[in-house]
Amino acid sequence: MSIEQARSLAVREAINYILDAEVVGIGTGSTIDKLIKLLSDLRGSLSSKYFIASSLDTSLKLRELGLKVLDFRSIDSVDVYVDSADKVDTNLNLVKGGGAALTLEKILTYYSKFNVFVVDYSKLVNDLHNEFIPVDVLPQALTLLTRYLGRLGYEFSIRYSSKGRYGPVLSDVGGVIIDVKLPPNEDLVGFEKSIKSLPGVIEVGLFIGLTDVLIIGYEDRVERLRGRRLYSVYSSSRTA
Ligand code: 5RP
Repeated sequence: MSIEQARSLAVREAINYILDAEVVGIGTGSTIDKLIKLLSDLRGSLSSKYFIASSLDTSLKLRELGLKVLDFRSIDSVDVYVDSADKVDTNLNLVKGGGAALTLEKILTYYSKFNVFVVDYSKLVNDLHNEFIPVDVLPQALTLLTRYLGRLGYEFSIRYSSKGRYGPVLSDVGGVIIDVKLPPNEDLVGFEKSIKSLPGVIEVGLFIGLTDVLIIGYEDRVERLRGRRLYSVYSSSRTA
C-alpha cells in the first residue's frame, strides 16, 4: 500500500508536464498505468493532444480512453516523454526494460524535447553495479550472442514469461530480452557501449545522462530532481 501511495503521488506530479505539451510520449509499466488512470479523468483537456506509446500495451490503454495515438513511424517530434524506471542511481541514470519495452522507450527518451521519469522511492539505489540490465536481442543472434557473452564472463539470463506465453519474453520490436549483470568494476558508459556494439543487440536498458526531471514519490511527499541531460538533440531551455 505504501509504495502504491508513493507512486500515486508521484504520477500526479507529472500531469502538468503533459498538460503543457502538444505531442506526448507515454512509457510502459505499472507506474505508468497509474498515470493513464489519471489521464482518464482528464480526457476533456487532452482531446487536442497527440500521444505516442512506447508499447502496444500503452497504445491499447490510451486508445481505450479515446485519446489520439499516433503511429510511431509517423512522428517527427515529441514535446515531452513521461515514463518510469526499474532503478535510478544518484546521478539519475536509469535501468529500464522491466516491461520489455526498452527499445522504443529509449528512442522516445533520446529524441524527446523534454523527459520526465516518475518512480517511487524503492527504485532508488546508490549505483547500478550488480544490477541486471535488460538487453533487447535479435532472436536470430540469441544463441551466438549469449555464448559470446558467456565467454566474455558476463552473467546473464534469458527472460521467460511466467504466464501467457510459452518461451522467452519478446520485446515490442520482436527481440528477445536477456538480463545481463553489470559487473562491479565495469564503467557504465563502457558497458553500454560494448554491449550495444555487439551485432544482434538491438538496445541496452541503461539510460545514462538522459534524464531531464526525476519525480520521486514517497509515502507522504514528492521530490523533484533536475537531471543533467548529457545527450539531447535539442537544447532544452525548460526548467523543472
Ligand atoms: C518498461 C519499463 C518500466 O518503466 C519499468 O520496468 C518500471 O515498471 P513499473 O512501473 O511496473 O515498476 O522500463 O520497459
